[in-house]
Amino acid sequence: ATAFKAISAPRVKNEREENETDKGLRVQDKGFLNTAVIRSEITYIDGEAGAYLLIYGSLPSAAQFDVFQKEVMHHSVVHADAAPFFRSFRYDAHPMAIVTSALAYLGSYYSEANPSLQGQTLFTKGDENSLAIMDKQIYRLIGKATTLAAMAYRVRQGRDFVTPPTGLSYTGSFLYQMDHLGEDDYRPNPVLEKALDTLFLLHADHELNASATTVLQTGSSLVDPYSAIAAGCASLYGPLHGGANEAVIRMLISIGKPENVPAFIEAVKKREKVLSGFGHRVYKTSDPRSFIVRKTADEVFKITGKDELLETAMALHEAAMKDEYFIKRKLAPNVDFCGLIYRAMGFPLDFFPVLFAVPRVVGWLAHWRQMMLQDGGVKIWRPRQLYVGASKRDYVPVGERV
Ligand code: CMC
Repeated sequence: ATAFKAISAPRVKNEREENETDKGLRVQDKGFLNTAVIRSEITYIDGEAGAYLLIYGSLPSAAQFDVFQKEVMHHSVVHADAAPFFRSFRYDAHPMAIVTSALAYLGSYYSEANPSLQGQTLFTKGDENSLAIMDKQIYRLIGKATTLAAMAYRVRQGRDFVTPPTGLSYTGSFLYQMDHLGEDDYRPNPVLEKALDTLFLLHADHELNASATTVLQTGSSLVDPYSAIAAGCASLYGPLHGGANEAVIRMLISIGKPENVPAFIEAVKKREKVLSGFGHRVYKTSDPRSFIVRKTADEVFKITGKDELLETAMALHEAAMKDEYFIKRKLAPNVDFCGLIYRAMGFPLDFFPVLFAVPRVVGWLAHWRQMMLQDGGVKIWRPRQLYVGASKRDYVPVGERV
């Protein structure tokens, strides 16, 4: 597989470019359609290779792999003091709100990662001590991501938290912490464990999407990585991004059955509805991840049985792919139909974006690490705006305002 792709920024026609200027400033690229903000060597997803390649840029030696795996699993335990933090959320809190907050909360435990508390810029390229501190935060965040997610899941059910087990894979440990009912010999179903592993690999990174950009924007102020990753998680929560896998299922439930698909498609064309799970800023053809999602779905459905929404999803897919509106706009399915697999596996609907966030922590960290160690140091990300407000407004006393 091609491990690295240099990022290029293809020139996309941006109808929304504006000609107004303010002291030489001009709105040229609303929504960053054409702007490359950083040089990057971070790989697109390589389904065979996983997290180490993404973060460190090469496949690990056997010894490096051993250390990485042990460190990540070792750091999966969350301090017992965190339990009341999780219990402070409402019973119906969205798990993404809990996980986003928990990532920021985690930073309060590790002042060694906070440059402002250390009074210096941490993480200097070539400085072994600073790289070791950086690695530790990376192990912690990857290791604890599954634990925080499982805690967010269990707290809403009023269940006790589960200490991460030893001797299981990353996804095996995650499923164990989610599901475990008390039996010592509990083991997750190996087919479902493998399927989740495949979906985690698919979701680990995807170039400079909204959440990775948010991590870099936030990290560019040199804040600690927990805060930067929490900011990325907040960005992922939205329905145009990671929240789309939840939105897809809500949309399919609202459509109900295949016979209702044509009316739904017409509503989308009239812009009354959005076809969640379709369209992508970069792909103008089918998202290659969607093919692996389909294959994984077949494997999972053999164990769980088919999801009742599958027929509606297939009818929707078929109708959209032959409709001129979608063909003309090059709209095709993205990765977010994987919600059907999560549903079949028994995850609650509002937990789906968390299943995107957990593996994406790895990608966010890869981008964050690359920026922290780039030649010439970090430059704060500070775009400008085109001010179009009044140049002068007189003060009107409150009693005279209309
Ligand atoms: N349903 C209906 N029309 C759409 C859709 C859609 N899902 N996506 C784009 N369009 C239309 C859009 O209205 C525009 O039409 P026109 O040129 O007539 O105004 C045209 O297609 C081009 O779209 P755009 O708005 O310029 O595309 P964008 O790059 O700004 O937005 C997107 C990308 C992913 C936010 C958008 O396609 C969308 O809202 N999709 C649904 C939400 C979704 O599935 N998000 C997950 C994305 S993939 C995983 C991830 O990154 O999280």
